[in-house]
Amino acid sequence: MNKNQLAYEVHGSGETVVLIHAFPLSKKMWAEQVRLLAKKYQVVTVDLPGFGQSPPQSRPSIALWAQAVALVLDELKIAGPVFIGGLSMGGYVVFEFFRQFPTRVRALGLFSTRAKPDTEDQKKKRGELAREIREAGLGALANSMPAKLVGKSTETSAPRLLAELKSAIEAGSSQGTADALLAMAERADSSDLLEKICVPALIVAGAEDKVIPVSEAGDMQKKISGSDLHVLEKTGHMVNLEQTEIFNTLIENFLQKVFS
Ligand code: MLT
Repeated sequence: MNKNQLAYEVHGSGETVVLIHAFPLSKKMWAEQVRLLAKKYQVVTVDLPGFGQSPPQSRPSIALWAQAVALVLDELKIAGPVFIGGLSMGGYVVFEFFRQFPTRVRALGLFSTRAKPDTEDQKKKRGELAREIREAGLGALANSMPAKLVGKSTETSAPRLLAELKSAIEAGSSQGTADALLAMAERADSSDLLEKICVPALIVAGAEDKVIPVSEAGDMQKKISGSDLHVLEKTGHMVNLEQTEIFNTLIENFLQKVFS
């Protein structure tokens, strides 16, 4: 835990790879990537405020969360540019990190995420859900969200993953989860940033994503010059958990090119 109270873990040594988790999970979702990548890189995973071991912050905001990640790197004395990748909400933080600290970024990973902001309707729904969670806890979200997070194919092929996601959501904090919904609703539009991204970018999306349409990934790829897009068949939102082997190969090959 550092001075802004963000819990983090560091594994391995070498060039730095930072991974930011999705909503409403924690750094634990990267366990299989950490296991592989820590053999060659220094892998840093963080719990965003209000998730995992990190306490909620008084003013939840994606922009402040990106600053909190930068403070972790300061504390670790990581001066050189890093690979920073995030899944979905983690991707929103990655965009903010690039906006605020472009010189600290060597390459980006944009997994099941989007640059566009919420519509008014999405903001309203997030507000309603946040209210429900504050009043009644995480039970309803833990029951409904796992089936949204994975693709139709995974729903039938890997019911164990759904059960794991349910437990992970139940283990979260109501306040942190509700705060994150409001932080996501208020996030900046990153569409204009895409054409300014001048570092290598790995984009991975699932063809069966029910949370963020896969077309968003194609839109990002067109605007980020030289970016790599991989759409995984029979895969939903949780690309790293649903297709661990394929995802690991993609990220490993990408990092090999970036850091060689
Ligand atoms: C996530 O997976 O991080 C969230 O579902 C993203 C979102 O709700 O926009």
